[in-house]
Amino acid sequence: MNDETIKYKLIDIVSEAQLIDGFNGTPMAEHVSAITALLNEHEIEHGFYPRWRDAVNALPKLNTQAARNDEDHWFIDLPNISNENASQLESALKELMPWRKGPFKLGPITIDTEWRSSWKWNRLAEHITPLEGRDVLDVGCGNGYHLWRMHEAGAKLALGVEPSPLFNCQFKAIQRYATTPSVMMLPLTFEQFPVTQAFDSVFSMGVLYHRREPSEHLQSLRDALKPGGELILETLIAPGEEDSEIEIEDRYANMRNLYQLPSVLRVARWMEEASFKDIRCISVDVTSPFEQRTTEWMPYHSLSNALDPDNKLLTIEGLPRPRRAILIANR
Ligand SMILES: C[S@@+](CC[C@H](N)C(=O)[O-])C[C@H]1O[C@@H](n2cnc3c(N)ncnc32)[C@H](O)[C@@H]1O
Repeated sequence: MNDETIKYKLIDIVSEAQLIDGFNGTPMAEHVSAITALLNEHEIEHGFYPRWRDAVNALPKLNTQAARNDEDHWFIDLPNISNENASQLESALKELMPWRKGPFKLGPITIDTEWRSSWKWNRLAEHITPLEGRDVLDVGCGNGYHLWRMHEAGAKLALGVEPSPLFNCQFKAIQRYATTPSVMMLPLTFEQFPVTQAFDSVFSMGVLYHRREPSEHLQSLRDALKPGGELILETLIAPGEEDSEIEIEDRYANMRNLYQLPSVLRVARWMEEASFKDIRCISVDVTSPFEQRTTEWMPYHSLSNALDPDNKLLTIEGLPRPRRAILIANR
């Protein structure tokens, strides 16, 4: 049978054995059967998946040393890697382009990603309850860059849910060399994720504006938290001090599937309506083309192509240019 015609199930991305291993000793352990059933039930809906799967399988076997953050790269030392293995590694990683979140450094290879994702992490790291010993969920985690930072900060479990098969394959590529069972990603949407009251900290970064019903998303984030747990919410916002929002009709900064641009006050009100307590905004930041840009590993349009060339305060759709806020609150 031609590979293109094979239908893969989500369980091809993460196996039951990995779930058992990663969830051992955490509140997720009791959910292994339910999640295994879900992963067996749903198929991967992307024609390129066989290509990405082959790329992950083509990654060379290498000796690794502990991974760490190094000058804003997630760095995995690959001591004594041969030239042949380095070029095999680079070709496999390039098959997984575009790389949006990172950057990563695997031995001699630097994956220079569209986003300097450490900037977001640096904005929030000193404001959150320290992650030491906590069970952490990252909703819409992209390729999992921040999961590694959560793990480094001491999280007992750093679990991401992310429906994109490409981002799951990128995660698998990094995971291959940074083998840590307590850092995991599930190829599910948050709406499919069946677990409540299990996490000490829940992150939702860059997801709220993709939800048609932001209040439902906030309610589900609250449900995922243990009583007293902490939500870290990062989202695009509209400028202004008032409680308001801009409806997005078509695209915003070239992005589709973006429904609304609320002010900080509007986001805080939604959080209050979802029964969050101690809501505080710890950062508002206008995104710069130094943080989000075209690179060798993400060669397509990026932020600078989405700004009005005659007025850099506006997007090409004539809306306020992207700015992002981080709010923290408790269940
Ligand atoms: C803008 S990216 C943010 C990635 C990462 N959290 C960060 O802040 O760098 C949004 C991510 O949310 C994922 N996403 C979209 N809808 C989702 C849903 N319903 N459940 C879980 N993830 C979702 C997308 O696939 C995408 O990877």
